[in-house]
Amino acid sequence: MEIKIQQVETSKIDSIDFNNLSFGKVFTDHMLVCSYSNGEWESPEIIPYGPMTFEPSARVFHYGQAVFEGMKAYKDDQGDIFLFRPDESIKRLNISSERMAIPALPEEIFNEGLKKLLKIDTAWIKKGEGNSLYIRPFVIATEPAISASPSNDYKFIVICSPAQSYYAGEVRVVVADKFSRAASGGVGYAKAAGNYASQFYPTNLVQNEGYQQIIWTDANTHEYMEEAGTMNIFFRIGDKLITAPISDRILDGITRKSIIQLAKDSGIEVEVRGIKVSELKEAAKQGELKEIFGSGTAAVVNPIKGFKHKDFEYEIPEIASTYASFFKEKLINIQYNNSEDTYGWRVKI
Ligand code: COI
Repeated sequence: MEIKIQQVETSKIDSIDFNNLSFGKVFTDHMLVCSYSNGEWESPEIIPYGPMTFEPSARVFHYGQAVFEGMKAYKDDQGDIFLFRPDESIKRLNISSERMAIPALPEEIFNEGLKKLLKIDTAWIKKGEGNSLYIRPFVIATEPAISASPSNDYKFIVICSPAQSYYAGEVRVVVADKFSRAASGGVGYAKAAGNYASQFYPTNLVQNEGYQQIIWTDANTHEYMEEAGTMNIFFRIGDKLITAPISDRILDGITRKSIIQLAKDSGIEVEVRGIKVSELKEAAKQGELKEIFGSGTAAVVNPIKGFKHKDFEYEIPEIASTYASFFKEKLINIQYNNSEDTYGWRVKI
C-alpha cells in the first residue's frame, strides 16, 4: 500500500513543554488522512497537522455521523515504540462505524498508516512511565449534503497528542438518577461522537457541585451502574472485583477487558454482572466498599475517591494496597515493555 508523505519543513517540537501538558491540547507535526469516495477508501497520505477545509453542509456537522478511537503509543528505554492491543481498536472502530452507517475501514490502512505516522513523529513519544502519545483515529462524514441520510464521502484521520495523565487530581462521581447516557437498542456501545457530547451538559451540572464525572445508570430504572462515559467502572466489595457486563449500552473497553483478564490470572475473584446502586450503598454502609476505579485508554486506571447518589454521599477510606494501583502497574509494565507480555497485547512498531 502506497502512503504519500509530505513532511513539515520545521518541527514545532522545540516549542512544546513536555512537562506541562494538559490532555489533548498539543498535536504532533503530522497527521494521517484517508478519503472515501465513489464507494472505496483511497490511499492514505501523511501531511502536516493543520486546519482542513470542509463545506458547511458536510453531513458530520448536521447529523454527527462520526466515530473515533483512543489509543496510546509508548516508548521503552531502548527507544522502541509499542502499541497496546491495536487489533482491538481497529475492530471496535469498524463496529462503531457499522452502527453509524459508515463504511468499514480496511485494517491495512489503519495499521500501516499508523505505523508510518508514529515513525515520522517518533520524537514526540517521550520515554518514561507516564509519558505516552495519545492517538486519536476518527472517521467523519464529509459529503456536502444535508438530507438526513448517510454520507457518500468520508475522511479517516489520525491525529496524535503527547499525553501525561487524563484526570489531574482526585475524582469524585455522582451516580446518575435522572439523565441517561445510553438506551437499549441505541448507540452506547459505539464510540460515536454524539455519545460524548450528550454527556457534557449533565457533567457540567455535577462539576458545578464539585464532582468530576457521572456513573451512568441504566436508562429504564436507574438502578444498575453501567459506565462513566470516559471510563468503564470497577467496584471492589470486600476482595471481590465487580464490573458491569458489556451490552449495547456500554463501551467494550480495551483496558476494561485487560483488567478482567489480569484479575482472573492473578487470583482475584472477579464478577462480571449487573451491580445495583443499592448494593453499592449497602456495601459502603457496611464498610465493605474498598474501591471504585475507572479504566480507559486515556485515564488508564483512575481511582475514585467518593460518590454521591441522591442525598447519600460516601468517601472511600484509604487502604494500603489497592487493586487500582496493582492493575495500573501491571498494565504499565506491559505497555512500556518493562515486563513479559504473555498475552501478546504489546505490539512493536
Ligand atoms: C479514551 O480513553 O481513549 C477515550 O476515548 C475517552 C476520551 C473521552 C478521552
